[in-house]
Amino acid sequence: MKKTALFILATAMAGLGMAQTKEPLPAYKNKNLPVATRVADLLKRMTVTEKAGQLNQLNGGAFTGPALNDAGQQAKMQMVREGKVGSMLNVIGSAETKAVQTIAVEQSRLGIPLLFGYDVIHGYKTIFPIPLAEACSWNLNQITANAGVAAKEASSAGITWTFAPMCDISNDPRWGRVMEGIGEDPWYGSLVSAARVKGLQAGLDNEHILACVKHFAGYGVVESGREYNYTDVSRVALWNKYLPPYKAAVDAGAASVMNGFNIFENVPVSASKYLVTDVLKKQWGFKGFLVSDWASFGEMITWGYAENEEDAALKAFKAGSMIDMESKVTFAHIPELVKQGKITERELDETVARILSIKFTLGLFDTPYKYNIDGREQSTLFTTAHRQEALRAAEGSIVLLKNNNQALPLQTSSKIALVGLYASSKEDMFDFWIAQGDYKQAVSLREGLEKAWGADKVSYAAGYQADGSANEALVNEAVTNAQAADVVVVNIGLSGKMAGEDRSLAAPEIPANQIALLKALKATGKKVVAVVSSGRPLVLTATEGLVDAIVYSWILGTESGNAIAHVLSGAYNPTAKTVMSFPYAIGQIPVYYNHYNTGRPKETDGMGNWYSRYRDIPREPLYPFGYGLSYTSYTYSNLQLSKTTKQKGASIQATITVANTGNYDGEEVVQLYLRDHAASLIRPVQELKGFQKIALKKGESKQITFTITDDLLHFYDATGAPVLEKGKFSVMVGGNSKDVQEATFELQ
Ligand code: BGC
Repeated sequence: MKKTALFILATAMAGLGMAQTKEPLPAYKNKNLPVATRVADLLKRMTVTEKAGQLNQLNGGAFTGPALNDAGQQAKMQMVREGKVGSMLNVIGSAETKAVQTIAVEQSRLGIPLLFGYDVIHGYKTIFPIPLAEACSWNLNQITANAGVAAKEASSAGITWTFAPMCDISNDPRWGRVMEGIGEDPWYGSLVSAARVKGLQAGLDNEHILACVKHFAGYGVVESGREYNYTDVSRVALWNKYLPPYKAAVDAGAASVMNGFNIFENVPVSASKYLVTDVLKKQWGFKGFLVSDWASFGEMITWGYAENEEDAALKAFKAGSMIDMESKVTFAHIPELVKQGKITERELDETVARILSIKFTLGLFDTPYKYNIDGREQSTLFTTAHRQEALRAAEGSIVLLKNNNQALPLQTSSKIALVGLYASSKEDMFDFWIAQGDYKQAVSLREGLEKAWGADKVSYAAGYQADGSANEALVNEAVTNAQAADVVVVNIGLSGKMAGEDRSLAAPEIPANQIALLKALKATGKKVVAVVSSGRPLVLTATEGLVDAIVYSWILGTESGNAIAHVLSGAYNPTAKTVMSFPYAIGQIPVYYNHYNTGRPKETDGMGNWYSRYRDIPREPLYPFGYGLSYTSYTYSNLQLSKTTKQKGASIQATITVANTGNYDGEEVVQLYLRDHAASLIRPVQELKGFQKIALKKGESKQITFTITDDLLHFYDATGAPVLEKGKFSVMVGGNSKDVQEATFELQ
């Protein structure tokens, strides 16, 4: 009523040409002022409760239609209206985000806009290969392009912020989240992480979204691969192996960082002052903001680190952590903690300023609906161009692990017996992190083969059940189909639903009923090609001997079936190389290429025949890091170093000749590994320090040169300081981590 009266009065005064006494525009609303000035002005106007609100992130849901009558949703809207929420997650779509943003901007006292976060992990509507698979492409431009499409689609739906990339190095395929990551190598993982940030964030315009580096730090070493378990990492391992990818993503400009669920030195990482303040903010100079993982502040009580919610809020805040995703302890207790003087308002201001700054930088105060452009969502999502990009990405992610007697590619005149529940079950094609992807729109392997070969040339049988139990009838049907065909393509592995958070497996292997099926198929005498679907490397030792070829297709997203069909037909010659070792047996886990030498690496090294090994299985993985075949073959020869001694500050060139000696044009990932033979902290037997993905026509050969500089030779001590020590280094170059040529030089 009051408002209406004022409005009438103002209109009347204007009508009479009377001068109004206009409030000057608050500085924070003046877009011509620098961000810092606007932030400072806004902070002066905010209550402590409103400041705590900026650290409060709520889970969304719907806010329009029937949700308007829902008491729970109404309560959240009221909190937004009262300035008690700074960001939301899982509010989906342009209409919904706009509706909530309208409340924040037009109905709250200060009109502070919200950030809308969402897990856009490998695509928003058009689904790309899982991050682990995409990393196997060794194609950084493609990785950036994939992230760019994801950002474009998500931003058109009003999303401003994704919780990606995941930069957790892991050696443990029992852990379900290896699917979201970068594999086992810190150097390559750093490049991939930076490429993802670049694709997501570039330009900070309304076609990109803020990136969030997660899960800081060391979440990938959950003990025994069990999700949410204890983690124990030394500072030396932290600096040399685990921190580099997070650092690279931060250096690439990522606006935010997410705490992990895990532990560092027996302190939950959300409360680790060492990680958050000393490393991230001080040593790395990170200027962005942090968000907890889902309820990770509150979980400090369960871990036994905080006594109660207030204690949890205080410990997280004092460590330097910021936004509380859904445990609600920060908002509930910060005002009281400020009142008690345990947190100063100045500390609170410094924290909140980081969040406000990004909101100003994004332009949300001036154009709060910049992501909500009418019609853009409809015209952006799932376009033909995006699907084409997803197809290219999927083709480039498929790793060919075995190809005996050139079993592949298959003739398009061949009759195929396609076997495998997952070849036809679209639901099983998609994993847990598919944002708004719709599995019904994805291309199954069955559809892909039928399109490429013609439906009349492809028979189909499920062959096994998902629950792992034996089913003779299904096997018999598959065998009958196999006998009538020229070749069997059998899709084995695990449902996509077994990949992701809380999907730990004690036995990441091919289920027994699928092995039984393979045996029956092999007995037909037909050529058997296995296509393996999984979000992680599975133990393939039993499979290996039963099939002629293994195509590792991971989880490839929307265009899965087309991409696999292109590989099987040879329309696409595989170029991917695995970025995680494939264990020979479960008991080998964790098995990784950049391991240490031990004091007894070989039978010949001292102590007779007692050395570092297993008595029941080989020590080496079944397929090493960097491994992947092509339909053509490559030979490496003549590794030459430009010098045999190198002074600090100078560089050395390593040159090798790579020849395509097979029958197809192809692309090869040439890999450079280094080894520091003796150092004040022992170094791994091999560390990837360079790669070049090169195209080679049939019969062509090229000289490839790598330049080795000091930054490839140093390691980190326990404080994170780089250390460069003189001595002998090996240079290894090859097409995977095991098949390499080696030369040495001396650093002086
Ligand atoms: C996951 C995060 C994710 C968050 C929000 C958590 O359970 O660990 O990676 O971003 O949920 O969905």
